[in-house]
Amino acid sequence: MTKIKVSKRLQDVNAFHVMSLMAEAKQLEAQGHRVIHMEMGEPDFSTPQPIIDAGIESLQSGFTHYTPTLGLPALREAIANFYLTEYSVTVDPEQIVITPGSATALQLVLTLMVSEGDVVAIPDPAYPSTHNLVRLLGGSVLHIPVNEDSSWQLTVEKLKQHWNDAIKAVLLASPSNPTGTILKDVQLQQIADFCKSKGVFLLMDEIYHGLVYEDAPQTAVGLNDNTFVINSFSKFYGMTGWRVGWIVSPKPYLNELNKLAQHTFLAAPTPGQYAALAAFNNETHKILIQRRDEFKARRDYLFQALANIGFKMRVEPQGAFYIYADCSDLCEDGFEFARIVLQEKHVAFTPGIDFGVTGAKQHVRFAYTTNIENLKIGIQRLSEYIG
Ligand SMILES: Cc1ncc(COP(=O)(O)O)c(C=O)c1O
Repeated sequence: MTKIKVSKRLQDVNAFHVMSLMAEAKQLEAQGHRVIHMEMGEPDFSTPQPIIDAGIESLQSGFTHYTPTLGLPALREAIANFYLTEYSVTVDPEQIVITPGSATALQLVLTLMVSEGDVVAIPDPAYPSTHNLVRLLGGSVLHIPVNEDSSWQLTVEKLKQHWNDAIKAVLLASPSNPTGTILKDVQLQQIADFCKSKGVFLLMDEIYHGLVYEDAPQTAVGLNDNTFVINSFSKFYGMTGWRVGWIVSPKPYLNELNKLAQHTFLAAPTPGQYAALAAFNNETHKILIQRRDEFKARRDYLFQALANIGFKMRVEPQGAFYIYADCSDLCEDGFEFARIVLQEKHVAFTPGIDFGVTGAKQHVRFAYTTNIENLKIGIQRLSEYIG
């Protein structure tokens, strides 16, 4: 078969390096080996039962048609109410746009913001889909290197230092993937004020907000008139496969988002949206808090255990389920290291090059999305490898 050349823009899109490691892990498992997975960016817990029940009930009630494009009105209202109870921030339900996961929310908001030649400033390291989406839109990414001195988060000083007038938007995530660290409220406010003074968009990814183990950060919703926030039921609520996320948009942009949503996905999955209605009830909340405590215990264990065997981390991650570890005392290249450890010790984790440019080869990301028993086996095997 002769394959026709795909679009130029798609040629510039990179696949995750970890995918090749995951394929190797599958092969090892097919040969009967037990692989310890610390590369997975999704909770190992299944969806809480009340959410599953709500999804099943909706299907049995025949709710199998499209919802309105911007989402089920009851869910938009429930999310607006969540901002009031969780953050004391008033949001009009009209500002909530339901999307198929926050991946699509990102795509929608970036399509709204980015024209050919525009630059999006993103801290380095960061979640890589954003880079690829910006490129797909004909824009480019300004990688602003961050390190442990600012808890792997952008500061307004750094942003000013790297500023150029082609920048159209600043994209942040807190807690961050891959570092699990949080942007302090004052820093966020300073960045929002600076973006306002420059007349550029601020896009904040709060998908890991529920998974914070110490002081919870404030939402970026309403910080200025041009701030967009995205969030999702995937991680904290354990609903990765249901594909439901959302955008909190300033009102003047809703018509454009509506138009884009109509042409890209029409509406988010209906069963997922009905199921998500149960995400905010008390019974679900109790389950989610227990799970968060379990994640915290895993973080405490893994952070110390990695340090004990020679990985270097100067700041403890406060959220998400990731530890971004400096492996420079143990190897030359994190990707090669990840490949060899997988082949020889059957432990999988993600190379830093999936997330950034500066210093990425000297880092790897561990996800504590598996139970403590497995983490202990993983550490034992790693420590045998390191000797
Ligand atoms: C920082 C960040 N944003 C967005 C996403 C997309 O998640 P979803 O589409 O499941 O909401 C992910 C997934 O790993 C992520 O880590």
